[in-house]
Amino acid sequence: MLFKSYAQLYEDLRDFAVYEKEGRVVGCCGLAIIWADLTEIRSLAVDDAFRGQGIGKRLTEWAVEEAHRLQIRRIMSLTYEQAFFEKLGFEVVNKDTLPLKVWSDCVKCPKRDGCDEIAMVRTLHDVPMIVMPTAAPTPKGVSIPVLESFAEVDD
Ligand SMILES: CC(C)(COP(=O)(O)OP(=O)(O)OC[C@H]1O[C@@H](n2cnc3c(N)ncnc32)[C@H](O)[C@@H]1OP(=O)(O)O)[C@@H](O)C(=O)NCCC(=O)NCCS
Repeated sequence: MLFKSYAQLYEDLRDFAVYEKEGRVVGCCGLAIIWADLTEIRSLAVDDAFRGQGIGKRLTEWAVEEAHRLQIRRIMSLTYEQAFFEKLGFEVVNKDTLPLKVWSDCVKCPKRDGCDEIAMVRTLHDVPMIVMPTAAPTPKGVSIPVLESFAEVDD
C-alpha cells in the first residue's frame, strides 16, 4: 500500500468503499478515474483476520459496479495478487499499454525504479467504446524522474 497523507485521504474519500463487520471496518477499496475509458482499483485490502471470507471479492465487485455506473469500460489494477484478480475476470497486460497518468503516484513509492507489480485489466464489454483523446503511453521501463530536492527532503 502506498503512503497517503490525511489531506489525500480526505480528497479521495468519495472514491472509497469500506466493508463493515459488527461495526468495525475490516476492508477497503478505492476506484479512481484515470482516463475516459479507464478506472483503477486502489488500496484494496482486507484485515488479515478476515481474509478468505469473500470480502475482497465483494469490494472488487463494488468497484466493478461503480465503473458500470460511471460507464467506464476498463478497470485496472497494479498488484501482486494475480490469481485473485484472474478469478474476478482481470487479465495481465503489458504495463507499456497503460497511459502515463497511471504512474503519477509512483513518485511516492519506494519501488518506483524497480516496480515489480503486475498490471491487470478487466474490460466491461457491455459498456460502449468511446472516442476519446489519446493518453501518452508509459515510457519503456517505467522509470519516474524524481527531483533531487524531493529526494533530499529530510536534509
Ligand atoms: C488480496 C486480498 C484483498 C483478498 O481478499 P480476501 O477477502 O481474502 O479474498 P476473498 O476471500 O474475497 O477471495 C475471493 C476469491 O479469490 C481467492 N483468493 C484470495 N486471495 C488469493 C490469493 N492470494 N491467491 C489465489 N486466490 C486467492 C479466494 O480463494 C476466493 O476464491 P473463490 O471465489 O473461488 O472461493 C487480501 O488478501 C489482501 O488484503 N491482501 C493484501 C493487500 C493486497 O495485496 N491488495 C491487492 C492490491 S491491488
